[in-house]
Amino acid sequence: MAVRDIVTIPDSILYRKARKVTDFGKELQTLVDDMVETMRVAPGEGLAAPQVDVPLRVIVVEFGDEEDESVPLKLFPVVNPEITRFSKEQVTGTEGCLSIPDFVGDVDRSVSVVVKGMNRRGQPMRIKSSGWLARIFQHELDHLNGVLFIDRTERIWKLEGEPAQVIPTV
Ligand code: NI
Repeated sequence: MAVRDIVTIPDSILYRKARKVTDFGKELQTLVDDMVETMRVAPGEGLAAPQVDVPLRVIVVEFGDEEDESVPLKLFPVVNPEITRFSKEQVTGTEGCLSIPDFVGDVDRSVSVVVKGMNRRGQPMRIKSSGWLARIFQHELDHLNGVLFIDRTERIWKLEGEPAQVIPTV
């Protein structure tokens, strides 16, 4: 595994739609491993392949529980993910992004979403998520479509003093 460089704005790859994965071979396995390591080192709770300069529809998300720190983190690598259900109910939350260092913003997201996709071996999978995990999935899916959280907010601000760790970044 290797830590890859994280692309930041205004790199054009962040504004482009990523391609579907069709080859589940060794190159994809290395990409997923490297994305997991890069996300952990950053540190972040999610990462999309365009953020490591690869225009493919691959995301990794690692999250435990918002309220209970004793719940172990769960890792979700998802290939060709789609959100098949968005709850009508939305909630505002403060997000950061590893590709937009030091800035955060308030973004409205669905409270719960259903994500469909494939695991790293190409087998179908479906994840029901809510709360912060659902927010991470929505943020990462946006990355695959060239959309950034700053496109979805009217209020962004720079974190002063404290580094970005105070807000989970994805
Ligand atoms: Ni991001």
